Amino acid sequence: MRTGAAMNFLRRVVDHRRLRAGWQCRFRTLAVFLLVIPCGLLQAQSSGSDARAQARLNWMREHQPGMWNVAPSEGQWLQDEIVRTGAKRALEVGASNGYSGIWIALGLRETGGHLITLEIDSHRAQLAQQNFKAAGVSSLITLRLGDARKIIPQLQGPFDFVFIDAAKDQYVDYLQLAKPKVRVGGVIVAHNVTDLRSLVEDYIHAITTDPELTTTFVNAGPGGFSVSVKQK
Ligand SMILES: C[S@@+](CC[C@H](N)C(=O)[O-])C[C@H]1O[C@@H](n2cnc3c(N)ncnc32)[C@H](O)[C@@H]1O
Repeated sequence: MRTGAAMNFLRRVVDHRRLRAGWQCRFRTLAVFLLVIPCGLLQAQSSGSDARAQARLNWMREHQPGMWNVAPSEGQWLQDEIVRTGAKRALEVGASNGYSGIWIALGLRETGGHLITLEIDSHRAQLAQQNFKAAGVSSLITLRLGDARKIIPQLQGPFDFVFIDAAKDQYVDYLQLAKPKVRVGGVIVAHNVTDLRSLVEDYIHAITTDPELTTTFVNAGPGGFSVSVKQK
C-alpha cells in the first residue's frame, strides 16, 4: 500500500512538472511572437516607405530634368551624414523640386528629426510639395517659399545641420545668416564646391579662414561638398 501511494504521489509530481514545463514553453513562444512580430512589422513598414521614397526619387530623375539636383550618390551621402551625426534639426537653402530634401528626410526619419527647406521659385516649390507627398516624407519637411536671405533671420535655431545649395553668388550671405543659428558641433554642408568652384571661391575662402569652423571636402559625386563643423 505504501509503495502504491508513493508511486501515485511521484506520478502526480511528474505530471505537474510536465504541465508546468508545457506552460513555460507556451509562454516563451508567446513572448517571442510578441517581440518578433512588431519588430518585423516595423522593419517591413520602414523598408516599404523607403521603397516608396526611392521610387519617387527615381521618377523625379526621369520626369523632372533640369532641376539642378544633387547626384544620387550625393543624396545618399546627405542621408548617411544626417544619420552619422545624429542631426535632428536640419535646414536646407535651395529646395528646387525637393530631390535632396527627400534624401535628407530619409536620414531624419532615422534620427527623429525635421527639415526646414527654403525655395524662392513658386513653381519648383509646388513640385517639391508634390514630391514630398508622393515620397511619403511630407510630415518630416516644412517648405518655406521666399528668399532665404529674408527667411533665415526669422528662423529659430539651433540647427544641427545646414545644407547650402541655392544661388552660388549668395553662399556667403547664407553662411553669415545661418552660422549663428548652428549649434556648436553642428555641420554646414555646401554643394558644388568642386564642379562650380570658380563661382563659390569667396565662400571657400570664408569657410577655410573662419577660426570658428573646421572644414573638410568630400567628393561623394560630381558636385563636391564642403563640410564645415562649428567649433565655437
Ligand atoms: C541647385 S538648386 C537646388 C537643388 C536641390 N538642393 C536638390 O539637390 O534637389 C537651387 C535652388 O535654389 C533656389 N534659390 C536661388 N536663390 C534662392 C534664394 N535666395 N532663396 C531661396 N531659394 C533660392 C533656386 O530657385 C533653385 O531652385
